Amino acid sequence: MIELKSAQDREKMRRAGRIVAEVLQLLKARVRAGVRTRDLDQLAEAEIRARGAVPAFKGYHGYPASVCVSVNEQVVHGIPGLRPLRRHDLVSLDLGAVVDGFVGDAAISVFVEEPPNDRAAELLTVTQTALGAGIQAAQVGARLGDVSAAVQEVVEQRGFSVVRDFVGHGVGRAMHEDPQVPNYGTRGRGVVLRPGLAIAIEPMVNLGGYQVDVLEDGWTVVTRDGSLSCHFEHTIFLDPGGPEILTQNAKSLV
Ligand code: MF3
Ligand code: CO
Repeated sequence: MIELKSAQDREKMRRAGRIVAEVLQLLKARVRAGVRTRDLDQLAEAEIRARGAVPAFKGYHGYPASVCVSVNEQVVHGIPGLRPLRRHDLVSLDLGAVVDGFVGDAAISVFVEEPPNDRAAELLTVTQTALGAGIQAAQVGARLGDVSAAVQEVVEQRGFSVVRDFVGHGVGRAMHEDPQVPNYGTRGRGVVLRPGLAIAIEPMVNLGGYQVDVLEDGWTVVTRDGSLSCHFEHTIFLDPGGPEILTQNAKSLV
């Protein structure tokens, strides 16, 4: 069942989303060679709590941290630990925060210092572009398949692949609500998008094949062929005037 959000819910989700965006920017600024992924988790939890919010991931189905840090061939759900980041690593940071019972969920990816090569650099820009295309397709009156197809087309036109086994999702009082938002699909199919729908669109894009495996830790998702993987995510709210990105920093009102 898809729960549509009220104006009050939307305001809470804006606050949660803004905090997620702010803390992701702090984490991004902290990414450099030698930093351990656990250092990023400590920063994430402290900065979320300093803003009066609660980490959405910690304890979720037993997940042990506040941020997912997924490096190189890790796709999503990497567990922060003692691993030091190295020059050329591709680091995905996925963060969730709860404010007044509502969740904001977003992810960014960043290279440590610089990409290892041009194709890796393209992987990151294509993933960002695919997320943008998905957001633009998320118009009231459109269908969910329009969003999925928009993401998939951008990715596959450039010869990359979209992960099938993990998808975006409705978001609100729970981090994962209906509907599922796949990064592959067919235009004109799926539910009609209504005002008040809040969804997280999150392309996971691989440089090689789309197949993934879950490691022994029960969380870390990796590409089966060991190729690089990239991840961007925004929580958006469907307004008749167009999609509003909730996981964004406050913009100047001038
Ligand atoms: N942002 C992730 C998602 O969209 C959530 C991380 S799962 C957790 O599914 F267990 F780490 F919380
Ligand atoms: Co998500």
